[in-house]
Amino acid sequence: MQDQDIEPGTTARFATAKRIIRQAGVMAKDYFDRYDELEIETKSGRQDVVSVADRDVEDFIRREIIASFPLDGLIGEERGADATETDYTWTIDPIDGTAVFLHGLKSWCVAIAILKEGVPVAGLVYDPCADDLFSAATGHGAERNGRPIAVDSQTPFDGGFLVVGASKPEQSHHIGQLIEGILAAGGIFMRNGSAALTLAHVAAGHYLGYYEPRLSSWDCLAGLLIVREAGGLADDFLSGRDIMASGPAFAAAPQVHDQFKALTLRGT
Ligand code: 2AM
Ligand code: CA
Repeated sequence: MQDQDIEPGTTARFATAKRIIRQAGVMAKDYFDRYDELEIETKSGRQDVVSVADRDVEDFIRREIIASFPLDGLIGEERGADATETDYTWTIDPIDGTAVFLHGLKSWCVAIAILKEGVPVAGLVYDPCADDLFSAATGHGAERNGRPIAVDSQTPFDGGFLVVGASKPEQSHHIGQLIEGILAAGGIFMRNGSAALTLAHVAAGHYLGYYEPRLSSWDCLAGLLIVREAGGLADDFLSGRDIMASGPAFAAAPQVHDQFKALTLRGT
C-alpha cells in the first residue's frame, strides 16, 4: 500500500503512528523484560490491573502525538480523554493485555486507532515480542510489517480457532453458554488476554473469529478496522454508542460469521 493514496491528513497521522507505536513497543518491552519487578495496582477489581509501564507508555505516546498534531483529540486507557480541536481523534491502549503482561506472558500489544470525524480511518497493533506491526487504513487493505495479510476464508467453523474473551463475573452464564455451543459444534475456543492482538491475528488468518461482551474503544477499534481491511466481517463498535462507553466486539471470517454470531447471542 502507498501511504500517499490515503487522504492527506490521515496519511500524515498514519505514518506518524507507525513510528510512535514501534517506539512505544520498545519502551513497553523494556518494562516487560522485568515484569516481575513491577508493582501491580488494581483498578475496578483484582483482575483489572495496571502498572507504571501502562502509564509511562501512554504518556510517551501522548507526548509524541501532541508534538506532531497538538490539536487532535486523545482518548487513552490510563489517562482519559482530551477533546479534539481538529477532525481527528486518537484512541490509545498503551498495553492491551496488561494482566498477561504482568504475569510474564507474551500475548500483549500496543494499540492505536485514528478517527476522522468520529469514524475510524486507520488502526495499528504492535506486538513487540514478535516484532509484528499490524496496520490498516480504510480502503487500503491490511498489512503485517508492510506485507498484505488476509483472513482465513477457507477453513470451516470446526477446523479452526474461535476466540472468546471475558473479564467480569456477571458474564459467566453467557460465556459458559457460548463455549458450550462452540464445543458442541465441533469448534475450538481460545483466549490470549489481549483483544487488540487477537483481532490482529484474526486479520492475519490465525483465528477464525473473536467475541468479547464488554470492551472499550481503545481495546478494539484498531483491530476491528484491521480485520475489515483483511476481508473479515467486523461489527461497528461505535454504532449507537459513545466512544467512551463499553460494549461488545465481534469479528469473524465470512464463512463462519453467521454460525459464530448466533452462538454469541446465547445466554444474553
Ligand atoms: P487491558 O489488558 O488493556 O485491560 C481481555 O479480556 C481484554 O479485555 C483485554 O483487551 C483487556 O484490556 C480487556 N479488559 C481487561 N479487564 C477489563 C475490564 N475490567 N473491563 C473491560 N475490559 C477489560
Ligand atoms: Ca486494553
